Amino acid sequence: MTHAQSRLTFTASGGERLRGRLRVPGDKSISHRAVMFGALAEGETVIDGLLEGEDVLATLAAFRAMGVAAEGPDSGALRLAGAGLHGLGAPAAALDMGNSGTAMRLLCGLLAGQAFDTTLTGDASLTRRPMRRVTAPLAEMGALIETAEGGTAPLTVRGGRRLHGIDYALPVASAQIKSALLLAGLYAEGETRISEPAPCRDHTERMLAGFGYPVRREAGTVTLAGGGRLTATPVSVPADVSSAAFFLVAASITPGSDLILEHVGMNPTRTGVIEILRLMGADITAVREDVVGGEPVADLRVRHAPLHGIDVPARLVPLAIDEFPVLFVAAAAASGETRVTGAEELRVKESDRIAVMAEGLAALGADVTATPDGMIVRGGRGLTGGRVHAHGDHRVAMSFAVASLMARDAVVIDDCANVATSYPTFAAEARAVGLMLAEQWHTPEAT
Ligand code: S3P
Repeated sequence: MTHAQSRLTFTASGGERLRGRLRVPGDKSISHRAVMFGALAEGETVIDGLLEGEDVLATLAAFRAMGVAAEGPDSGALRLAGAGLHGLGAPAAALDMGNSGTAMRLLCGLLAGQAFDTTLTGDASLTRRPMRRVTAPLAEMGALIETAEGGTAPLTVRGGRRLHGIDYALPVASAQIKSALLLAGLYAEGETRISEPAPCRDHTERMLAGFGYPVRREAGTVTLAGGGRLTATPVSVPADVSSAAFFLVAASITPGSDLILEHVGMNPTRTGVIEILRLMGADITAVREDVVGGEPVADLRVRHAPLHGIDVPARLVPLAIDEFPVLFVAAAAASGETRVTGAEELRVKESDRIAVMAEGLAALGADVTATPDGMIVRGGRGLTGGRVHAHGDHRVAMSFAVASLMARDAVVIDDCANVATSYPTFAAEARAVGLMLAEQWHTPEAT
């Protein structure tokens, strides 16, 4: 699943200016959910624009292993023969979720409602990440899930349990926890009601409604009752704003740049990165706004503009949570000081993104201070270049490639293979718009 046997190094040498048009691949969060709901629906679901990244392919492989017939994916098109909420079968072996926290946590909720036992495993990063945040509230619903010591994967989800709805206040603004509980709620007796401390991505709620499942949404809460059914519906996946973010920053910090990013998902629970960049002075305009399958989309035009440091407003943190690696790069390019607080969740992502970004940016000559819940970046002095480590984190790898645009010398980035989890075509697309980026694969013996 992941590239355990081979390693990828990027050598990023910046670029003069970024120009052209680009449709980045499909949204990862929406792609996972489209596969899950299509697999559980009654009837055939046809998806277009699906992200064919390793994370989503892990989710798809899991459903195939549970007996769901699927044709594709082929150029983003996938056809799923829905098994219905009660039509999944026991997989023959443990389900390997690779690097994907979304796949593991959402499946944990869904599997808690099945008649059979399942084991979920993952790679070195995923098996270090906290899972009690989902297993504890699922246990309150009646689920039985065994974890490794420390509350990490592998997880064994016991089947044949009677679940009941709960009223649960999320301790963190996490769409993964919310979604895991809603998926278990489909199988629970009575109502499952979840309240969030601050808005976080709502693709699950939107897609449930799209598949005809009654969901009640009031300020900060979502409620559903078990025992309903999902009805197949076509899903059109917009381009991933989290992938577009690398180019929003790249063009913003590079003089002469003028880029169009097509058909980007503009769900307001995801566009924090655009708001933050605009507060820093970025020139980003949305044109051709539309709504596809319940999700807003737009083409984004981004032109170079001088950025300045800001205190990132706390309310925007959960709405830009995956974009902080590249926002730290924007902050290093911006004049003055940028302060990020309230972002301690970054420490439990695919890597500890506060530590790893602070270490890498410092190695490239930036003036940064990591804090327990964020970072202080004193920007505007340019970067030297040098060698950094992505620690197997896709977004860290791509962020350092963007950082090369403000570096005097090349930026060599080790451990980039996991870029394939969310954006397998990143290097080629980056080159197409003017970022000089070479890829080199090696076997461990050769490194
Ligand atoms: C995701 C939710 C976020 C995000 C992750 C995808 C999702 O995680 O970081 O990349 O698809 O629900 P949390 O819910 O843990 O914040």
